[in-house]
Amino acid sequence: GHSSTHIFIILGASGDLAKKKIYPTLWWLFRDGLLPEDIYIVGFARSNLTVENIKAACLPHMKVANEELDSLSAFFKRNSYLSGRYEDSRSFEQLNNHLSSLPGGEKANRLFYLALPPTVYHHVSANIRNHCMSCKGWNRLIFEKPFGRDLQSSQELSAHLSSLFKEDQIYRIDHYLGKEMVQNLMVLRFGNRIFGPIWNRNSVACVVLTFKEPFGTQGRGGYFDGFGIIRDVMQNHLLQMLCLIAMEKPASTSPDDVRNEKVKVLKCIAPPDMQDVVLGQYVGDPSGEGDSKLGYLDDPTVPKGSCTPTFATAVLYVQNERWDGIPFILRCGKALNERKAEVRLQFTDVPGDIFAGRCQRNELVVRVQPNEAIYLKMMTKKPGVFFSPEETELDLTYRSRYKVFSTFILFNILHDVSICHLQKTDAVFLLFLHQVCALSCNNKRAQITTCRDLSWDSESYDLMQRAGFRYEGTYKWVHPHAS
Ligand code: BG6
Repeated sequence: GHSSTHIFIILGASGDLAKKKIYPTLWWLFRDGLLPEDIYIVGFARSNLTVENIKAACLPHMKVANEELDSLSAFFKRNSYLSGRYEDSRSFEQLNNHLSSLPGGEKANRLFYLALPPTVYHHVSANIRNHCMSCKGWNRLIFEKPFGRDLQSSQELSAHLSSLFKEDQIYRIDHYLGKEMVQNLMVLRFGNRIFGPIWNRNSVACVVLTFKEPFGTQGRGGYFDGFGIIRDVMQNHLLQMLCLIAMEKPASTSPDDVRNEKVKVLKCIAPPDMQDVVLGQYVGDPSGEGDSKLGYLDDPTVPKGSCTPTFATAVLYVQNERWDGIPFILRCGKALNERKAEVRLQFTDVPGDIFAGRCQRNELVVRVQPNEAIYLKMMTKKPGVFFSPEETELDLTYRSRYKVFSTFILFNILHDVSICHLQKTDAVFLLFLHQVCALSCNNKRAQITTCRDLSWDSESYDLMQRAGFRYEGTYKWVHPHAS
């Protein structure tokens, strides 16, 4: 029969991704009884660590309540850790010995999560194939972006992986697709009658997708500098959300059907012109506190004089019948004034205005994080004797409606990104990235504006306005239930 033992192997267990996302998520699943009973979690990385070290690094991200401490120690009893080198086959033989020594381990299902820099993907995947495969259970690998640096390296990686594994053993995931509010886009769009008829160029004036983070590279500069914000966030997370907004209704909710619709959207997007893009790099704030004093170039892991953008705004157009001419504005950056990810549809003005220009445009906002919410900005009559239009909102703040909801869903099959999808996202940005790279160093510098906190958006804001976004500055979302 099938093995009931599952081993979850985290390669890169000492890294940022592991401690911020993977271990905490596994803990939440364990706490809620959503993991198989016979689960073992094995960490692997170069450093000489113990499970206690891992625990200490992860705890700040695990949100453990006092009454959950027993459960937490039960969770860490399921954990073990092994150090080794990624290129070294001996290390992977040792890993395999360790996996096989766990109860039921030899025949267990094995899930390998490569929380690693892409530079070691080749070695590690080959070492897993050669030394660590379960003999009876299934074997699967999870990868996160970046899947290579450009079309060629991305294709090389794909070819390498398919020489080792079957396609259904390989999961390329985008963790933004695991966010509750991103998944919700499907239900919002296709489970409601009211949005469908206005979800097109007749009623939508523009779409804005935003990702902001209040911290800089924090020592991840070595990785980040080789990729930049376009590959780190825009090409994957923002483009995935764009696809969910722009795609036609899939034949079903099955992953294949959804992926196919997304690919069709990507095929209709041309690479942006240089004038439709603003690039920036954050600088330190001399009057700021702590980390905010530091600019990108002050990070010792960033190469001297680097021109890598940490901030970007790009206007894309989906040239199909539904969206032709409607700007999709993607903006993302590190070390900005706040943490925020959201999707915003701004609707057109009401034709035939009878309120002397006092109405503002409707907007539908899906706030992905933090404080998950869906709200619809609309005009209402201010109570009183006059016809005074006033801005207000229909608000669905998740925290006040749902007591318990997960902010992160691991292993929902929707996460998986197809190879075809990757090729198309490469196609959207590659030409543009090539243009940037072709610039001489001085010109490159000139292309990159500096940004810091609130001033992050001045140039990018001009671009948004040119593209057709209207900002009146009259509306402020107020948390309705805040004490
Ligand atoms: C990752 C990027 O994919 O997403 C990071 O590599 C970024 O640079 C992170 O910080 C943001 O994810 P989240 O879920 O914290 O918004």
